[in-house]
Amino acid sequence: EKGGHDYFMLKEIAEQPRAVADTLLGRIGADGRLSLDEMRLTDDELRDIDKIIIVACGTAYHAGLIAKYAIEHWTQLPCEVELASEFRYRDPILTRSTLVIAISQSGETMDTLMAVRHAREQRASVLGICNVNGSTIPRECDGVLYTHAGPEIAVASTKAFLTQLIAVYLIALYLAQVRGTKWGDEVFAMIQLLGTMPQKVERVLETVEPVRELARSLAGERCVLFLGRHVGFPVALEGALKLKELAYMHAEGFAAGELKHGPIALIEQDLPVVVIVPSRARPILHDKIVSNIQEIRARGARTIVIAEEGDEAVAPYADTLIRVPAVPTLLQPLVATVPLQVFACELATARGHDVDQPRNLAKSVTVE
Ligand code: F6R
Repeated sequence: EKGGHDYFMLKEIAEQPRAVADTLLGRIGADGRLSLDEMRLTDDELRDIDKIIIVACGTAYHAGLIAKYAIEHWTQLPCEVELASEFRYRDPILTRSTLVIAISQSGETMDTLMAVRHAREQRASVLGICNVNGSTIPRECDGVLYTHAGPEIAVASTKAFLTQLIAVYLIALYLAQVRGTKWGDEVFAMIQLLGTMPQKVERVLETVEPVRELARSLAGERCVLFLGRHVGFPVALEGALKLKELAYMHAEGFAAGELKHGPIALIEQDLPVVVIVPSRARPILHDKIVSNIQEIRARGARTIVIAEEGDEAVAPYADTLIRVPAVPTLLQPLVATVPLQVFACELATARGHDVDQPRNLAKSVTVE
């Protein structure tokens, strides 16, 4: 049942190229345009939207944070992302032209369900991104886009996360296609590139062995920090969450630009710090993070750098360099997250923990 793997989590990490391919299947037409009619929201409804609010918990929330960058860039619609458990307790400004997107693997998370109900009471349209067919959240939404990750058994979310990213990219690009956008050619090119992502994820899996060795060598550490900018920031949060829940270690993700506003005080000799480096296609982001790496290294941090193939500028400052295929920055989370999943899984196993059943956690959280 674990397909030759010791844990479901390892099986599910390995299944990601297939999960990504299945979630794309049938959604990119032969003419290179997207068709998402299955969402049950009409193109007219999508043209009327003037604001998007994403609600989710945990790993799904991190997918939502990444979605914000993609949606605002490709559609020019304002997009907010909120933890579902917080959303209901403020007074969110929702109108009939607000689209609320609820992201949930299980479709049963109570906090997310309550946020969906709250949004519908305020007459907003609600679109679910869910993995479990016929679960409660999609039944209560106006529309739904299913991810096709297949059953996710391990408590920690891996393949569901990658397919949630595919779903949000599809929605952002579809909105851009339907509404027209100043990035018409880019949107078309991105749709094509999405089709190549299963191979890119496969490539990461083929080259991930050094990450395992690194993880085992860090099994005795007490704390690991994660830094990123732009979409690399939610990837950092996700890397830290995986490590907390599986290895029971103190782990924190920071926006690299925030470092000097406090967290840099945490840096001490040999502290492992994982840095997600944006594509060189965005020199402004890229160069800033290179100087962040220099800053922490000068203070003794042990730098573990995730950077695209061909990026030589970071090499001199990386104690460990993890290569991922070069893809546009907005899509980078699809490749940059995978080594972090492997890292957390291997480190937890090295510490003797059962990665499929972390202590105190349940696969779906059906209480508030
Ligand atoms: C982390 C993890 C959780 C879930 C969260 C939301 O690895 O699995 O943080 O992402 O509980 O669950 P769903 O997506 O089912 O609503």
